[in-house]
Amino acid sequence: MHIILGISGGISAYKIPELIRILKRDGHTVSAIMTEHAHEFVTETTIATVSESPINNSDPYNTASHINHERQGDIFVVAPATANQIAKYYAGIADDALSTAFLTFTGPKLICPAMHTQMWENPITQRNIAGLDALGVKRLGPFDGELACGDSGQGRMAEPALIASAITNIALGEQQLSGRHILISAGGTSERIDPVRTLTNRATGTLGATCATLAALSGANVHLVTTDPGHQSPIYRTTVVESASELANALQRAWPENDSLIMSAAVSDFTLEAGETKRRRSDALALELTPTQDIVAELATHKTPEQVIIGFCLGDADGLEELAISKLKTKKIDYIVANTKENIGAQARTFSIYNKSGKISEKLNVSVTESAHAILNCLRH
Ligand SMILES: Cc1cc2nc3c(=O)[nH]c(=O)nc-3n(C[C@H](O)[C@H](O)[C@H](O)COP(=O)(O)O)c2cc1C
Repeated sequence: MHIILGISGGISAYKIPELIRILKRDGHTVSAIMTEHAHEFVTETTIATVSESPINNSDPYNTASHINHERQGDIFVVAPATANQIAKYYAGIADDALSTAFLTFTGPKLICPAMHTQMWENPITQRNIAGLDALGVKRLGPFDGELACGDSGQGRMAEPALIASAITNIALGEQQLSGRHILISAGGTSERIDPVRTLTNRATGTLGATCATLAALSGANVHLVTTDPGHQSPIYRTTVVESASELANALQRAWPENDSLIMSAAVSDFTLEAGETKRRRSDALALELTPTQDIVAELATHKTPEQVIIGFCLGDADGLEELAISKLKTKKIDYIVANTKENIGAQARTFSIYNKSGKISEKLNVSVTESAHAILNCLRH
């Protein structure tokens, strides 16, 4: 996808080279337009170097004109979007290269506002934002948190990785999930052996967290129950758990408030009585393991006909289809994603999705974001 990236004069412009790098890594091409004030915060040399493309500067009569932008871009993103640019867009003012190109562009537009809380909360800015929202301009943020001046409040620009996910989500075709309540589990549970050791697995939780991000970006209310505190995000609710029983409790509590469950966490099949003191090398080596409960099968017994459950299974490529179909039936769930061990922590993933009629989707070597998008597609039916 070719992205027209507008950079305006806010302090968070310093994060934009990182955004461009992520977009390039994800296979997109980027042409940047910088406002005159953007140059105060990030240099043209940096932006031109990381985007591998010359900058269209503040002269609206410049060569790579606004009309070219309209023809050549798949999406128009403004990050950071200053209060000043937002006001211009709402008023239809086109007095610099960025606002002229914005007014000309007819494809999807995404703005990522960033400013001090007082500027953001000003009724004038709120009126402009409400107007752009109503006109269908997509918006990400701003979020609550620490601001560049040391104050804290709403006004932080979305982090570059989240902006990149929003762009990819639009590129893949945003699912309409507004009004949906989606519960997602992610990560790998761990069972304590003693105060310092655990029995765990190699799941990273990246796929579940990416499902949470895409679902929230597509308008759903998302609750992610994860074993990794690093999965927290301002766009969805997070509960952090450690063991299989903590995960089961958190999901059981949340399930009645949700219409769908994506059970991507890798749950320990066994648990054990944790010792109170650290085991020593001289202690007996045998661990007495007991099976954990089958969380997804248990949640399926409380499922209303409207609720949807997507489960996961992992096996060898040989016999994976039979395994997936038998798990789908015995656990009484709606969809199952069949994985092989090669997918654990991988950048590119190969998997199939089944429902009770058989295979409905097969993906070969797709990115984690595309994998999450394919899984969320099940919730549209
Ligand atoms: C140090 C400093 C930081 C600023 N940060 C922001 C900001 O984060 N968001 C914003 O809307 N304006 C910010 N401004 C004000 C804008 O730079 C100013 O409104 C400018 O006219 C924006 O021009 P542009 O929208 O054409 O880039 C800042 C100004 C200064 C001096």
